[in-house]
Amino acid sequence: MKKTLVLVFHPSLNGQSHVNKALADAAGELANVIVRDEYALYPDGRIDVKAEQAAVEAADRIVFQFPLYWFSSPALLKEWEDEVLEHGWAYGSEGHAFEGKEFAVAVSTGSPESKYQPEGDNKFTIDQVLVPFEGTANHINATWVKPFVTFASFGITDEALAKAVEDYKAFLTK
Ligand SMILES: Cc1cc2nc3c(=O)[nH]c(=O)nc-3n(C[C@H](O)[C@H](O)[C@H](O)COP(=O)(O)O)c2cc1C
Repeated sequence: MKKTLVLVFHPSLNGQSHVNKALADAAGELANVIVRDEYALYPDGRIDVKAEQAAVEAADRIVFQFPLYWFSSPALLKEWEDEVLEHGWAYGSEGHAFEGKEFAVAVSTGSPESKYQPEGDNKFTIDQVLVPFEGTANHINATWVKPFVTFASFGITDEALAKAVEDYKAFLTK
């Protein structure tokens, strides 16, 4: 069974989060899945690069889980990429850390899927919004996996959230 690392980037996972908290809790109960609450690990924003690299090296599949903020990620995720994805480790002629590993994002959005369409309010599909992550996966020679998306998080019903949780468990154990 693949070893999966879920890096959760939510600034208030144990406070304001509803969707990501439920998904992270469910992920944490799965065998062969390790969940790291990155904002809790690094409340001052100073990332332990070696610890993060070791966590990646121990996994077969890496998942960034986060709420979509301004068509992008919460700031710590960007900081994580800038700090952890070092030349000579993640990319460059000596950088092979992600080779043979799968890389995915699990993102939640406030807007419904109908707005993430060319004719919708947001103009772009979620795959288009997530191009920077797919580009990063390509650049570090990881295998890009189709994103797991929970749309319409605002006021999500208990039923829809329970379905998202079940779908996420299946996604993580595939
Ligand atoms: C600072 C901020 C920016 C946001 N930007 C977007 C956005 O660009 N698109 C969108 O669909 N939702 C956006 N949202 C809504 C969040 O994605 C939504 O609240 C979140 O996915 C719900 O997950 P949670 O219950 O784990 O917090 C934003 C929310 C915040 C707080």
